[in-house]
Amino acid sequence: MRIPADKRLILKAPIIAQSRGAVGGRVQVACGLKHASDAGNMPLFQRKALSAMSDDHSTPADGSARRGIKSFVLRQGHMTAAQQRAIDENWPRFGVDYQNAPLDLAAAFGREAPKILEIGFGMGTATAEIARRLPEKDFLAIDVHGPGVGNLCKLMAEQGLANIRVMRHDAVEVVENMLADGSLDGIHIFFPDPWHKKRHHKRRLIQPPFVAKLLPKLKSGGYVHLATDWEEYAVQMLEVLNGFPELANTAADYAPTPDYRPETKFEARGKRLGHGVWDLVFVKL
Ligand SMILES: C[S@@+](CC[C@H](N)C(=O)[O-])C[C@H]1O[C@@H](n2cnc3c(N)ncnc32)[C@H](O)[C@@H]1O
Repeated sequence: MRIPADKRLILKAPIIAQSRGAVGGRVQVACGLKHASDAGNMPLFQRKALSAMSDDHSTPADGSARRGIKSFVLRQGHMTAAQQRAIDENWPRFGVDYQNAPLDLAAAFGREAPKILEIGFGMGTATAEIARRLPEKDFLAIDVHGPGVGNLCKLMAEQGLANIRVMRHDAVEVVENMLADGSLDGIHIFFPDPWHKKRHHKRRLIQPPFVAKLLPKLKSGGYVHLATDWEEYAVQMLEVLNGFPELANTAADYAPTPDYRPETKFEARGKRLGHGVWDLVFVKL
């Protein structure tokens, strides 16, 4: 169920209240700043908001420099025998190992075709269904969750899907180190962990620093499709994407769910809990 417009306005108010000035009809919020130096002239409350939404560059006890957002907690999760077998038997065909070097996507898929990145596919049921619906496109699907990786390999083998490649790694590092600029035609991030508690918001994927790393990977004309069942995160997503002038929203705010996206497992769970669903589809200019 979508939220009525009047309710959205109330929920947006706290974020809009932090912003100063609208440019070209867009509200520029603190989190939309491109340069850290831009923060220097901001009032303290804005600097705090920016800092809370920024990557965590804390230094661990060993003194090594820690890279940005850690958007997941590795759950143990039970890998079934069938999931493990699907990995063992199919990884050479479907799996891509992490490397600290650019990935040749055409070689990985064995063809030239539009390439879509999916971050956080969970159990992979929606990923497999989308790949089945769009056989002319290739999907690089990344998650850290072992049973999900096994499940997606199993679905691919069962359904004879050849247009997915699976990675089990932190997508932030993959984006940083393996994807060439202008190599993607689309990006799917469906129901990323909402990190409900305020002190955990810094773990959310959809924040300006990560989106700034993601967007150069998209071709001009490529799209970003996000979905969430957490209203306050939907508002944040809209604010963050609106902060990038190279992106144009395909809708006034939230988009109708595109035909290619089936209900995901996490979405179904959210609906059972009475949550709404918000899709956002932006195109790179
Ligand atoms: C809430 S679940 C949603 C899964 C699926 N998209 C769905 O809608 O059912 C979020 C998923 O993102 C994955 N994830 C979170 N951060 C990630 C990262 N940095 N790299 C790869 N996967 C990540 C988690 O392991 C989890 O499977």
